[in-house]
Amino acid sequence: MTAGTHPESYLPAMSAIAREAGALIMQYFHQGLKIEYKGDADLVTAADRASEVLIRERISNLFPSHDVMGEEQGLNDRGSEFRWYVDPLDGTTNFAHGYPVFSVSLALEQRSDAGGKRIAGVVYDPTRDELFAAELGKGAQLNGKAIRVSKAAQLKECLLATGFPSHKRHKNPNIYFYHQITLRTHGVRRAGSAALDLCCVASGRFDGFWEFNLNPWDTAAGVLIVEEAGGKVSRFDGSPFRLDSRETLGSNGLVHETLVQEFQEIFSGRGLEPLPDPREYRT
Ligand code: IPD
Ligand code: CA
Ligand code: CA
Repeated sequence: MTAGTHPESYLPAMSAIAREAGALIMQYFHQGLKIEYKGDADLVTAADRASEVLIRERISNLFPSHDVMGEEQGLNDRGSEFRWYVDPLDGTTNFAHGYPVFSVSLALEQRSDAGGKRIAGVVYDPTRDELFAAELGKGAQLNGKAIRVSKAAQLKECLLATGFPSHKRHKNPNIYFYHQITLRTHGVRRAGSAALDLCCVASGRFDGFWEFNLNPWDTAAGVLIVEEAGGKVSRFDGSPFRLDSRETLGSNGLVHETLVQEFQEIFSGRGLEPLPDPREYRT
């Protein structure tokens, strides 16, 4: 492809970039790393930075006019019609502790006066060599095979996922949601990569996912992949999701309304189960 041209599909280029960045972070993973802190519990490593440098280089070589918003370097806004959202390493805490659950997330938005629409997204898990991808209106795939959300229609048969932001973790209300939703489902996983959590909803491994305060680079690709796999993503009250929503609720669509209702109950403090007394469980 010649630099600066508009390809019919961006996915081949995006997939190649995500795979290359994934290979780079695996080199760092095997070699062990120095952890630095962005906030009191917000980690960053050399791998996060190197991955973003590589991704930005590849984008600017192939699409020199495109803007990029990346977690580590922020937004270069030249008013381009196209904007990339880049999480060069989603799951840094896992990565830094040697727990192999992390990914590279890339999304492309086409902007206009009427607003932006995300036209393509990829999330690559280099530990399993799994590449999730979607294009607007063309469905979602995992390693080239079409994927669909699950068919679970009742909350009690669902496996869900959530996450907790690494900063201000003591002030996050999500622990109450975690408790309540755990009691009503098969369980709630906290795997540590929001982009992969969304892809697990898209591929039917999870039936739903929610998180407070995610950033555009965490969600831009995963949300498109869920929607293209037949799922639904909204804010917690069911209103339309936006990249700056700070509330992400994704599901297979079938249990979406039930989750929205559960969330309203929890927000209003109704029906909260008290924490059990640990002495009851002594044998
Ligand atoms: C984090 C992960 C995690 C989520 C946090 C994010 P990072 O991204 O997606 O699962 O719970 O809210 O900040 O910092 O590892 O790129
Ligand atoms: Ca992230
Ligand atoms: Ca990150």
